[in-house]
Amino acid sequence: MPSDTPAQAHSESATHSDALDDAGLALGYPQMDDTHREFLALAQLAAQAPGAALAPALHELFEHTQAHFLSEESRMEAVNHKLLGEHRAEHQRILGDMQRFCDRAEAGRGGMARAWVSDNLMEWFGNHARTMDSALAADLCLRAAGEEDAAD
Ligand SMILES: [Fe+2]
Ligand SMILES: [Fe+2]
Repeated sequence: MPSDTPAQAHSESATHSDALDDAGLALGYPQMDDTHREFLALAQLAAQAPGAALAPALHELFEHTQAHFLSEESRMEAVNHKLLGEHRAEHQRILGDMQRFCDRAEAGRGGMARAWVSDNLMEWFGNHARTMDSALAADLCLRAAGEEDAAD
């Protein structure tokens, strides 16, 4: 699961100011917020990775993002979330872009990949977290509150 990896990136983000909170992107659903903190830490590492370190950093970001998206999609299925189709399509679009930039970096053409992570991917994530992920977190929080009420 994404929240179990990568321990190093997570512990580093935990000891510094919280990038997710600083960006106003915390959603109040802890499992999603933890995964998003890891995503931001890995994206920052990739954007700053020098030379040959870029390809493995992007690969790690790609694997984490695959697990991050799968985790959200399984949560959406579990609550029959109404935006599942659109949300999944958006995940697939970004994973496709990320895969292409991984391939470029592997081939030694990483300059554009670095710029894509620091500009396009970060902008996309901000918008995605504020809209689709926020709607999912609200749905999950509502469901959790309903289960608590039923247990009372
Ligand atoms: Fe997400
Ligand atoms: Fe998402």
